[in-house]
Amino acid sequence: MMSKQANKGLAGVIAGRTAISTVEAAGTGLFYRGYNITDLATYASFEEVAYLLIYGALPDAKTLIDYRNRLKALRELPDILKELLERIPATANPMDVLRTGCSALGCLEPETQTNHAANIADRMIACFASMLMYWYHFHHSAKRIETQTDDETIPSHFLQLLLGKTADEQDRKTLDVSMILYAEHEFNASTFAARLTSSTLSDFYSAITTAIGTLRGPLHGGANEAAMNLISGFSSEHDAELGIKRLLDDKKLVMGFGHRVYRHGDPRSSIMKSRAKQLADKRGEQLLFKISERIEEVMMREKGLFPNLDFYSASAYHFCKIPTVFFTPLFVIARTSGWAAHIIEQRGDNHLIRPNAEYIGPAPRPYPIKG
Ligand code: COA
Repeated sequence: MMSKQANKGLAGVIAGRTAISTVEAAGTGLFYRGYNITDLATYASFEEVAYLLIYGALPDAKTLIDYRNRLKALRELPDILKELLERIPATANPMDVLRTGCSALGCLEPETQTNHAANIADRMIACFASMLMYWYHFHHSAKRIETQTDDETIPSHFLQLLLGKTADEQDRKTLDVSMILYAEHEFNASTFAARLTSSTLSDFYSAITTAIGTLRGPLHGGANEAAMNLISGFSSEHDAELGIKRLLDDKKLVMGFGHRVYRHGDPRSSIMKSRAKQLADKRGEQLLFKISERIEEVMMREKGLFPNLDFYSASAYHFCKIPTVFFTPLFVIARTSGWAAHIIEQRGDNHLIRPNAEYIGPAPRPYPIKG
């Protein structure tokens, strides 16, 4: 008989089956369709990984060139969407801009038999940076930018639009690696939300819009921005030591630490840490890196907690001169590939996701009929 007792936050519950990615049983490794993320981060590119997730196999050299060209051709925004982006206030949260932009694209280029899931996934991966940067430059640089660039890759396109020039090779590589690591992560909250929406047979855009809204929270994707705000608030290693202890004494969460599925360390974190270290050395930003390391030491010593992917992604992005408010939107661009793969998989063997609840309300009672 089914237990009626709820599991807080569905922790430990097997909520479905997937062939897309898995966390190693010991909770120490992560694999996308059987490939270790360490190998993918070392040898592959973000577009290769996006293709692997969405289409199910690694592309050969020619397919990868074709795929990159296809993504390149999908960067332009419809005029109506540009008008809409111009009307969204300059003060809006960039995550809200992407969520709204995604929803608007669903009205302009709706899902049909021919404009199917994989098409739309490619379109979104290709044009999310365009949306974000069009909105940003319109309001903050008073420019209507061209979103079509010659850049071969998604990270280069993003940085080109942000900076208005070709970014440094090491920065492009760092962003590429981080997007590979952010691309997919089993039944995390936003992916599960996307699958849930898909399970009602809703459209692709609705599922991605749901996912963006879920990723925005600081317990999930929003943690990379929260981590940066935390790190940059300390003036020295000593200051960080005291500040973190104070937060822990006050029973506050330290963003960028801990994880629901990893209990001994996030296998993605050390990859980003070494990237952040290289950039810190190159840019002469050792203090910020040392502060980050001190926070890591204190969290391990005081709570036995390790940094998750978001912690060192934050300083790596910062060293690439990416404004903090764009950290979680970058996560969106990368994770769209994983969301898309899960939506397609959910549709392939759909069953409405509709769990039960453990009822803790009043027992049945009579309605107080008046008069
Ligand atoms: N800072 C301080 N304490 C933390 C913590 C953090 N980042 N993460 C977990 N803890 C504490 C919890 O408060 C809890 O303490 P308690 O036993 O005294 O109540 C204990 O560690 C166990 O945590 P648990 O409740 O098992 O974690 P969870 O699985 O519910 O939560 C997270 C996982 C990710 C939500 C949680 O670690 C967190 O909020 N981290 C910060 C946000 C973040 O970085 N999110 C990105 C995740 S990739």
